[in-house]
This record gives sequence, structure tokens and C-alpha cells, in this order.
Amino acid sequence: MEKNKKIIFVCLGNICRSPMAEGMMKHLISEMNLTSQFHVESAGTGAYHIGNLPDNRMRATAIKYGIDLNSKAQQFKKHHFSDFDYIIAMDESNKQSILSLTNDSEMIRKVYKMRDFDEKEFLGNDVPDPYYGSETGFENVFQIVKNCCENLLKYTLSQTK
Ligand code: 4NP
Repeated sequence: MEKNKKIIFVCLGNICRSPMAEGMMKHLISEMNLTSQFHVESAGTGAYHIGNLPDNRMRATAIKYGIDLNSKAQQFKKHHFSDFDYIIAMDESNKQSILSLTNDSEMIRKVYKMRDFDEKEFLGNDVPDPYYGSETGFENVFQIVKNCCENLLKYTLSQTK
């Protein structure tokens, strides 16, 4: 069966927030035995870390909760618009970088912000960039990503496509 729900998470470096979201989403999908329906990747709007594993601090946080992050960083490119159904930006700056690559309304409609799927009081907020911050930033990203992925998974399952 073709994987009919294709999701790509996008941050700046593709070594902290979006790999965490990719790993979390795959973990939740697997727990629900839905692996056959989904294809999940992540990418960065920047090219700084192409080919790299996620940041060790993000990996250490994820593994505490049993999630092994082992994706390799790639840069978000124009072809990803047609390859994916849901393009999920981690913050407003990433969203604007993504939108700057297309004028096609069908593609623009696929672009969301991660916290569009958070609890009401956080709707539209950014997932804070933990890269230059303290260890607590990574735990914070983990908890935000967990909440948002749970809601995003429910949302995609409620859509007919
Ligand atoms: P991410 O975090 O966008 O969550 O992967 C960052 C990683 C690296 C850099 C910035 C943010 N950097 O400037 O190298």
C-alpha cells in the first residue's frame, strides 16, 4: 500500500527540533501500529549541518524517553513541496523561508507551524531554538514536540486523504 500520509518537519539546522519531531512522530505512529500509512522525514532551511546526525544533547534527551534519533540532516528543497502532504515548520522564520520557495497556492496550503497543533494558549507560538541555550531547552523542546505530535497525528488521521 502506498504511504498516504507524508509529513516533513522543518527547522533551521535539522539537528535539534525537526529530528526530535521526526523521531517522536515515528514513535507514536509505531505505537499505534500505523507505520504502513505514514512516511515521515525532517529537513533544515539552512545547509550548515547536511549529513550530520542530530545534536548529542537532543539525542541524549530523546533516548531518556526511549527514542533513538538517527536521521541525517538534509536541506529543505522545492521538490519537498510535491513529495509531502504536511510541511511542518518549527518557527515563524522557518515558515517564511519555506514559503519564499513557492508561489503555488496548492503547495502553500500544505505549510503549517508546529504549534498550530499545541494546546490553545500556545497556538501559533514558535518551538524555541535550543541550540545556543542550556540543557533545559532540550527538555522543553521534547515536551512541546510530544504534545504537538500527538495532536498532529490525530489531525492527520481525521483528514480523508
Ligand atoms: P535546529 O537548531 O534548527 O533546531 O536544528 C539549530 C541547529 C544549528 C544551528 C541553529 C539552530 N546553527 O546555527 O548551526
